[in-house]
Amino acid sequence: MDTAAEPRVPQTQVAEEGVAEAAPPAGKCPYSYPFHRPSAVEIPPLYDKLRADEPVAKVSLPSGDEGYIVSRYDDAKVVLSDLRFSRAATVEPGAPKLTHVPMPPNSLFTLDPPEHTRLRKLVAKEFTNRRIRELRPRVQELTDELLDRMAEQGGVADLNEALAFPMPVAVICELLGVPFEDREKFRNWSNAIVALTTLTQEEMMAERLAMAGYIWELVQVKRKEPGTDLLSALITAHDDENTLDEGELVMMAMTLLVAGHETTVSMIGACVLTILREPRLRAIVDEQPEKIGALVEELLRVNPIGDGGPLRITLTDVEIAGTVIPKGSAVMAAVASANRDERRYTAPAEVDVDRENSQHLAFGNGVHFCLGANLARLELEVAIASVFRKFPTLRLGTEVDQLRMKSGMLVHGLESLPVAW
Ligand code: HEM
Repeated sequence: MDTAAEPRVPQTQVAEEGVAEAAPPAGKCPYSYPFHRPSAVEIPPLYDKLRADEPVAKVSLPSGDEGYIVSRYDDAKVVLSDLRFSRAATVEPGAPKLTHVPMPPNSLFTLDPPEHTRLRKLVAKEFTNRRIRELRPRVQELTDELLDRMAEQGGVADLNEALAFPMPVAVICELLGVPFEDREKFRNWSNAIVALTTLTQEEMMAERLAMAGYIWELVQVKRKEPGTDLLSALITAHDDENTLDEGELVMMAMTLLVAGHETTVSMIGACVLTILREPRLRAIVDEQPEKIGALVEELLRVNPIGDGGPLRITLTDVEIAGTVIPKGSAVMAAVASANRDERRYTAPAEVDVDRENSQHLAFGNGVHFCLGANLARLELEVAIASVFRKFPTLRLGTEVDQLRMKSGMLVHGLESLPVAW
């Protein structure tokens, strides 16, 4: 199928059967999160309805606990950045949970300031814009090597296996100083860590412990023989009074490894697929390389890899869009929905590289803003520009309706992305 000949496809098509979730009986917990996605290229149509009628909606979470989903842009931004919505409280005993598996308590994802500020400061200097710009030649080199190997496969490949998975994993493994040979282990471990409903509690805990054990051993090796990598730098990192203790070190490395590839892997697939389906976007990549940064921002906006940011817990009663969310409630900012909010964006489903208010929430907002945003942007720019330069005739190797998303996960990704050239 030559998708280059296809007409422009809106990113949100409300499938006829898509709005399966009907309004709930009064007082009952209405919707089950994660919501139904009719296909790999659509976000849950239920969000359109929630933004219009129930901007703060009660949901039942995979753990069985109840929570609230906040679906409009302005409100989601508040949930992400207002410290009355706590991350640390998600690991307090008795707090409502997303899944049955408790989140580890001492990670960037489960701390509030000032503890969060201290840890983040220790690691943030490795992720500054300048540090990341220095990585560009190496990211380009790794990408070119992978694309050369893909070319040798003949005229068809799974882009996930050929590029989207190995590139970000190679980058984050190199950055941290994790042996690249162990990347397959990381795929299983990080899949387990972002699983919502695909694994049992025991399976998830076992994978998490295995990963922690592996990193602990690696820390011992690096203590004896430090390298020039991030893990070695973190071992000696300190601010005025503090260094990272052993538990914090292991947790930080785990956080970076998982956050640093699961997300970008999924996003590379989603971005390339969007471009393959829209010839005018392909023309931007080919003819307006100066706009590739803006294109990446728009692709990030319309292609959410997760429905919502991680859970937060209200430290006090908080009113959002006229609804009082009681103290102690689980709340999720639905980034997938906020980034398509018609109150903020004209033609929100369209990828428009000339959009004026293009700022989005794909990397969050506030103190927890994605630490790896600059790295992710770099990887996406290099991946997109390189793949279409290397394979000018690249096209989708299957029908769109044959594509499958991994379901039951915190981070959504295509199971495979068959391409041909
Ligand atoms: C396209 C790829 C990526 C997307 C869409 C993404 C998105 C996000 C989002 C939505 C958050 C949470 C914001 C919140 O809830 O407040 C986050 C946090 C985080 N991300 Fe990313 N991310 C990506 C890539 C990366 C990469 C490559 C790394 C690391 C090397 C990374 C490391 C982190 C870390 C450490 C946090 C926690 C920050 C904190 O709580 O202080 N991410 N990311």
